[in-house]
Formats: sequence, structure tokens, C-alpha cells
Amino acid sequence: MSEGSSLIRGLEGVVAAETRLCDLDGKNGRLAYGGYDIEDLARQATFEEVAYLLWHGELPGKPQLDRFVSELISARSIPRELIEAFRLMPRSTDPMRALQAAVAILGMHDPDTTDNSHDANRRKAARVASQLAIAICAHHRVRGGQEPVTPAADLGHAANFLYMLTGVRPSATAAKAFDASLTLYAEHEMNASTFTTRVITSTQSDMHSAVAGGVGALKGPLHGGAGEAVMHTLLEIGEVASVERFTEDALRTKRRLMGFGHRVYRAGDPRAAILRGMAEEACRQSGQFKWFQISVTLHERISAAKGLIPNVDFYSAPLFYSLGIPVDLFTPVIAAGRIAGWTANIIEQHDDNRLIRPRGEYTGAGRRAFVPLARR
Ligand code: ACO
Repeated sequence: MSEGSSLIRGLEGVVAAETRLCDLDGKNGRLAYGGYDIEDLARQATFEEVAYLLWHGELPGKPQLDRFVSELISARSIPRELIEAFRLMPRSTDPMRALQAAVAILGMHDPDTTDNSHDANRRKAARVASQLAIAICAHHRVRGGQEPVTPAADLGHAANFLYMLTGVRPSATAAKAFDASLTLYAEHEMNASTFTTRVITSTQSDMHSAVAGGVGALKGPLHGGAGEAVMHTLLEIGEVASVERFTEDALRTKRRLMGFGHRVYRAGDPRAAILRGMAEEACRQSGQFKWFQISVTLHERISAAKGLIPNVDFYSAPLFYSLGIPVDLFTPVIAAGRIAGWTANIIEQHDDNRLIRPRGEYTGAGRRAFVPLARR
């Protein structure tokens, strides 16, 4: 592109779609799904209610929720071929890479796979949300040489996830904290992975193809992969007394501090504030309060020195760790929450689609004469 182009690096501030799903007020540090404040949803609603809100535009009444929960529970199975595929993958396969492949395989088996109608997309959203959770846990079990755990129909989505991961029924407190964190991750308008799903959808591709792309985008450490990186930082620091030395080194070497900073939030990420409270309680209850203390001390030190805010991935790290989630499953867990938003955005994009096709600012050589290979 040449004349009059106005490059916006990283598309910062560019409004790329209309959405009814998520109202992100970065200036005032506020977030709402479908008009409901994120704090009310995280504390008082279940992840299932939030997924219903995102897919239907309204919170469900009791009969609607009961039917919806039954639909999600009946979708709690993955094809035998997918388990076989997990067995064939190298043991060292990154869980996010396995998840991306799993979503593609789930697409091969879905009865509505290439049907992009609103109703088919809604059915696929419910199936893929249930199956994604099962696939994450099944892959984890298989790579550890264990059999996948059969889902428990009497457990909610979050509790069943923790159960399928470990084979142990979680405490009510652990299940609630995990359920709330899935809600906090469920939707966040045009973040990189959701935008990826919208770009893929805009070509009239199908839901599984778009979700597989979203998984690939979420994996990176500047996006969902940051949570895992935060935990590695906390483990590297190891003790509260070492925070000061770590911070001095990090500032001196201009190290990128994972879990800090955000493209849109300027006055703080409201999700981080909620997760901080949940992390404090979970770390205390699990006898691992040290990780919360290191996190708080690092937060205060970094914010004071650089003015950086902790984002959603900062306090979710000690929370997930204290819930016994393996560190390399932190990003898949984020995907297990964000699937609600990805699929809702895919439905919204299909329902009012225009191909997303921006331009590039050409900075290469000017026009020049072609030189045949023999003379180069
Ligand atoms: N650590 C150190 N410096 C930072 C950080 C950080 N985490 N974040 C921003 N900065 C500094 C940059 O060095 C840069 O400084 P400079 O202008 O002096 O060069 C300035 O702030 C602007 O940084 P950009 O990277 O241009 O800001 P951008 O809006 O592109 O980045 C991002 C946002 C990617 C989230 C960034 O803050 C970051 O890398 N954070 C760490 C990774 C992370 O936590 N990602 C998760 C985000 S939330 C989510 O996706 C679920």
C-alpha cells in the first residue's frame, strides 16, 4: 500500500468489530459481559451460566440452565481416535500443541462440522467447550502413562475438570475458585486469540478451524502463555527475601516481566484484583502461602519501580499452582475458559460477516529490472 497509508503498529486502538459480548473499559479498569460486571459474574454465577450468557445474550433462568447443563454434560466425551492420537504423540509434546491438534480432530468427528448456521454453531460451541476440557485432561493423563478419567456427570464443568485431571474430587472451595477463574478468562473482546478466531471465521471457514487458530495464538508468552511464564518467574525467585535482588536484576537487564502490562488496561486489570483474593485464599488453604507472598511483594516492587500493572495472568499463576494444576497446563486451562468467548465471537462473526483483510505498508526495494538466474 502506498499513498496516504497510516500504519498502526500492532493495530493498537483499532476497532475491528462490533460486539455485544464484552464491554472493556480500559481507562477505568472495568469489564462486563453482556452488561454484567465481571466481579458479580465471577463471584455469583457459574461458568455454565456465563457460557449461556455469551452464546444466548441473556442469563438463563433455572429451567433453561438445567437444559443447558444437560447439553454440556451429554457432550462430555471425546472420540476414541483422539485418545489414540494422544498415545501416538511424543511424550514431550507441548499440551497446547496437543490441544490444537485435538481441536482439529474433534472437527473431523463433529456432526455439524462444516455447517456455519447459527443453530449449528450454537450446538458446536457447547460440544467443543465440553470436549476441550476433556481433551486437555485426557492428554495430560495419557502423557503420564495413565488412563483418562471418566467424567463425573454429577459435577459442574469446573469441578469435573479438576476431577478428570487428578482423579480426585476437588473441595468445594477449590472448585469455586477454579470456576470463577474460568469465568474471568471466558471473554475479552479483540484479544489476539479471539481476533484470530474472527479472522479465520471471516473467510467462512468453520468453528473448529477457527478455535484451532485461537489455541495457536493463545500459546504465545505475550498472550495466554504468560501465566506459565509467571509461575516460572515465581519458582525462579523461590523466596520472598529474593524478590528484591530479582527485581534489581530485572530492571537492570530490562527484562520483560511476565504477567505485567496490558495493551488496553491503564488503570489496572479488574480480573487481576479478583484473582489476587482467590490466590491468597487458595495458597493459604493449600499450605503454599509463600507463592502468594512472593507474588504480592513482586507486584508492589515492580509497580512502584516501573508503574506496570499486573494483568490477569499474574495472580492466576499462584492460584492455579496451589490448586495442583501442572505449570504447563496453565495455558490450556486458560483456553478451557476462553473457549466460551472464542465460540461466542465466532457465532457473532458468522452472523454478520465481512472478510477481515487489512493492508500492509510496503517497505521493500523499489521497482527494479528482473535479473535471470544465470546472471545473478
Ligand atoms: N515488562 C517490562 N516492560 C514492559 C512490560 C513488561 N511486562 N510491558 C510493557 N513494558 C514496557 C515496554 O518495554 C515498553 O517500554 P519502552 O516504550 O520503554 O520500550 C512499553 O512498556 C510498551 O510496551 P509494549 O510491548 O509496546 O506494549 P504493548 O501494548 O505492545 O504490550 C503486552 C502489551 C504484550 C501485554 C506487554 O505488556 C507484555 O509483554 N507483558 C508481558 C506478557 C504478558 O503478561 N502477557 C499477558 C497479557 S494478558 C493476556 O493476554 C491474557
